[in-house]
Amino acid sequence: MKILAIGDIFGRPGREVFRDLLPVLIREHRVDFVIANAENAAGGRGLTPKTADEILESPVNVLTAGNHIWEHNTIHPYFDSHPILRPHNVNAALPGKGWGGFAAGNGVRIGVISLQGVVYMSEKGHLAENPFHSIDKLLPEIKRQSDVVLIDFHAEATSEKRALGWYLDGKVTALLGTHTHVQTADEEVLPKGTAYISDLGMTGPHGSVIGLDKEVAIHRFLTGEKRKFKVAEEGVTIDGVLIDVNEKTGLSKSIKRISEKI
Ligand SMILES: [Fe+2]
Ligand SMILES: [Fe+2]
Repeated sequence: MKILAIGDIFGRPGREVFRDLLPVLIREHRVDFVIANAENAAGGRGLTPKTADEILESPVNVLTAGNHIWEHNTIHPYFDSHPILRPHNVNAALPGKGWGGFAAGNGVRIGVISLQGVVYMSEKGHLAENPFHSIDKLLPEIKRQSDVVLIDFHAEATSEKRALGWYLDGKVTALLGTHTHVQTADEEVLPKGTAYISDLGMTGPHGSVIGLDKEVAIHRFLTGEKRKFKVAEEGVTIDGVLIDVNEKTGLSKSIKRISEKI
């Protein structure tokens, strides 16, 4: 079966390219199941009920998240009623679930986990538990009820992502990095069958500094002064990977990068 994983949807440009190109990619590659990271969908920061509704009108199965998901607490009630995951290993007192079991059209049971790294990632008291320990505790239960296991590992450091990839090789179907908004060229199926990429990239304006208007970003670096956050508009692209999965073994056959402009 074919699984499509899409990198962080950023602001209105990201939502629009997602809406326009996702159906094309699904048709072209005969995709069976889609996950997408939506932590930047609302104005570049967080997710709101309105932007979640808009994104979920597209044929996407599950939305994963990251550090920015806590930006708008209006989304909290949606965690129980919509297929939206928050990072599993952040403060358990926060609402929502970090994993779920979903069914693909062909009856395959797919476990999806949203997990967050800890290296260069702590902020606002949402401190995450060590993701290696966290996944060790969680995985047996998910594997009991899933044919395929996908992890969105939302983390800054490639070392942490790479290490978790090796740690989970052969134990999960795919470990897919997000958060840096820059697609990496290191996609591969690891020796024991886990598809891996350090970062899926960003679904949004690439003529920017990770989604932010480039002049605002440069001013911030030159002076330290934070001007009003502004979503960029140039170079709008949908980024992600297409994974060919053997649903009988729960392992991957191939992983291919996707990066398409409107
Ligand atoms: Fe992001
Ligand atoms: Fe992030």
